[in-house]
Amino acid sequence: MMARRMVAGNWKMNMVADSAKELVRSLSVADAPCGVDIVLFPPLIWLRELMSEAGDGGLYFGGQDCHEADFGAFTGDISARMLSVAGCSHVIVGHSERRKFHGEGDARVLAKARAALEHGLIPIVCIGESLENRERGETFEHLGRQLDAGLVPLGDDLTRVIVAYEPLWAIGTGRTATPEQAQEVHEFLRGRLHAAAPDQDVQDFPILYGGSVKPANAAFLMEQPDIDGFLVGGASLEFESFWAIIKAAGVDG
Ligand code: PGA
Repeated sequence: MMARRMVAGNWKMNMVADSAKELVRSLSVADAPCGVDIVLFPPLIWLRELMSEAGDGGLYFGGQDCHEADFGAFTGDISARMLSVAGCSHVIVGHSERRKFHGEGDARVLAKARAALEHGLIPIVCIGESLENRERGETFEHLGRQLDAGLVPLGDDLTRVIVAYEPLWAIGTGRTATPEQAQEVHEFLRGRLHAAAPDQDVQDFPILYGGSVKPANAAFLMEQPDIDGFLVGGASLEFESFWAIIKAAGVDG
């Protein structure tokens, strides 16, 4: 278990300015449990307003994706460098929705993670198996491939990356991995990450769980020794549900 825990709110393509500001205001004045970092991934068009709304309320902000090049003819994209200059501290790369709807593979995800690190951002690298993988008993084989191609080449930099395990069958479905299923995978991931960077402490590889995290299941998931926090989609869009998850991630639950 890493020293600090994290709860990340991936808003995806949701929220408009007023409701976004209201949510950020509530989060920035609430009394966060100690030891939990809260990171928000809003649509970037609201970023500046939200950062000023947050003030010094202890919230971190990040991009939902980045391009690996610094500048260029890439319509609609945003670079890691730009996110960094705008004040972001984190960026999600390899989210399953980017992989599915934008055809991004592991090599691309690796390039994005490298660009993020180069510009001082912490990449949250998402991996996860499909329902088909799981039903065929290929979960670990699939995750191993994603790790080998998208993460292992980072070597010692793996301690500067956060891995998010998000089983595809759990994202937005209301069907969460059981604490035992998630723990089994997180333990496997930690072992593989440590094998790729053996000089680092085995606890120094933060691993988040994502996929239908809700107030009702967060505390049970958090009890698992290899779960360091959550990447939350739907439940991060409302203060009550997101705050309940943040509280469950606190050291005293
Ligand atoms: P969900 O999304 O919490 O709505 O399942 C998680 C994610 O896609 O990061």
